[in-house]
Amino acid sequence: MVTCYDASFASIVNKSDVDCILVGDSLGMVIQGHSSTLPVTLDEMIYHTKAVKRGAPNKLLIADMPFLSYQTSLTEGIHSAGRLIKETNADAVKLEGSDKESLALVKRLVEIGIPVMGHLGLTPQSYQTLGGYKVQGKDSNSAEKMLKDSIALQEAGAFGIVLEMIPEKLGQEISQAIQIPSIGIGAGRYTDGQVLVIYDLLGLNTEFTPKFLKKYADLGYTILNSVNTYHKEVVDKLFPEDKNIF
Ligand code: KIV
Repeated sequence: MVTCYDASFASIVNKSDVDCILVGDSLGMVIQGHSSTLPVTLDEMIYHTKAVKRGAPNKLLIADMPFLSYQTSLTEGIHSAGRLIKETNADAVKLEGSDKESLALVKRLVEIGIPVMGHLGLTPQSYQTLGGYKVQGKDSNSAEKMLKDSIALQEAGAFGIVLEMIPEKLGQEISQAIQIPSIGIGAGRYTDGQVLVIYDLLGLNTEFTPKFLKKYADLGYTILNSVNTYHKEVVDKLFPEDKNIF
């Protein structure tokens, strides 16, 4: 799984072998330049998900439910998920956490026909109460709780769970304990699948180098060099060339 936020990237991923696309609320950081995902609104998620759907009509498309679009009440959660599905044609929604209210929401959404992916471990919408962007589930109590939470999400009807920034051993234990797919990001080698933010795997942000990330390209440098070459050719009157003029 990779994230996408616009039609251009989505149309490339649409031709790839990747199984599914997540329109993550990470767009708050990589597209909008915020320092967290918290400011992202439901309308913004809908806007980006529509664009991704136009670019990638053939991929399984999952849209994140943004902060405060589902935490206030069951009714608001159902309305928010319903808008995401109705207005964007996404296939499923993803929400973070596994408290009593979230589990009730997952159950109800599945009952009314909306597939839900869970998200445990480092849940970025709660980064402030988790003490920052830190590895979760390191001690035996929190590891055991996460294992139970994964099973509870599965029982509530989630069709998959993202596991973010947890020890590899816990990623393996959870993946073995549940029957639904686990999708890891910084959760080691034994999850059923992996997810990365597409801007990160393409190396668009040259300064972002967390341990869990492998950069498959250096597009940040490629863009910088291309823009500088363009600028120089304009200044030196080398562009436009004969072939570029009417
Ligand atoms: O918002 C996001 O992109 C995500 C992934 C990192 C799993 O939730």
